[in-house]
Amino acid sequence: MAFNPASRQLLAIKAALFALALLPLARMVYLTVSGQLVEPLEFITRATGDWTLYLLCVTLALTPLRRLTGWNWLVKLRRMAGLFTFFYGFLHFLTFLWFDHFFDVAAMLRDVVKRPFITVGFIAFVLLIPLAVTSTNGMIKRLGGKRWQWLHRLIYLIAPLAILHFWWMKAGKNNFTEPLITGAIVALLLGLRVLWARQKAAARV
Ligand code: HEM
Repeated sequence: MAFNPASRQLLAIKAALFALALLPLARMVYLTVSGQLVEPLEFITRATGDWTLYLLCVTLALTPLRRLTGWNWLVKLRRMAGLFTFFYGFLHFLTFLWFDHFFDVAAMLRDVVKRPFITVGFIAFVLLIPLAVTSTNGMIKRLGGKRWQWLHRLIYLIAPLAILHFWWMKAGKNNFTEPLITGAIVALLLGLRVLWARQKAAARV
């Protein structure tokens, strides 16, 4: 039977997920201030990168999950998941700008251009910005549903770019396990959408 939470239950689910999404950050802060890390800067850059990618996958998973379970309320979690993706992406970018370049924007941009895996990560992050900015109800109204939907399809480009960034970085270390796993997850989540879009088009003719 389809689970359909009342508005108070939905609020509780959202509050729990909000707290859960902050746990990785709390862990990073705790491990850093308690001096348990050998390479704190490297750890934070990597952990924020990992969580940006995980949350991107969670955001992409909500629509297929909703379709497969019939839990339509899952759509109401999409904005929060997307904004947390952006939040961790911003922290990831900030750690790079801070720890690698001490806020020297010109030096950071030179590095972005010079190292292809960073170029790709940077493009993915820049593309996330318009999605975060237009996530409010007011912006949805201003843009109109159709245009908003088109803009938010950028996520289908951002996700492969994020995988390419991860793949490229790990290729330098000849370690493809994690990029392969996350790449397969993204391929499945995007592949399901293609399949359903084709079925819908076929049903129309
Ligand atoms: C959607 C945007 C992005 C995603 C999903 C993402 C994801 C990741 C992931 C998963 C890693 C590997 C972490 C690990 O080793 O476990 C990583 C590493 C890295 N990312 Fe990103 N990234 C993004 C954007 C950026 C941007 C904008 C920059 C800088 C301009 C950047 C710079 C780096 C660097 C320098 C590393 C390597 C750290 C190291 O070698 O230790 N990333 N990123």
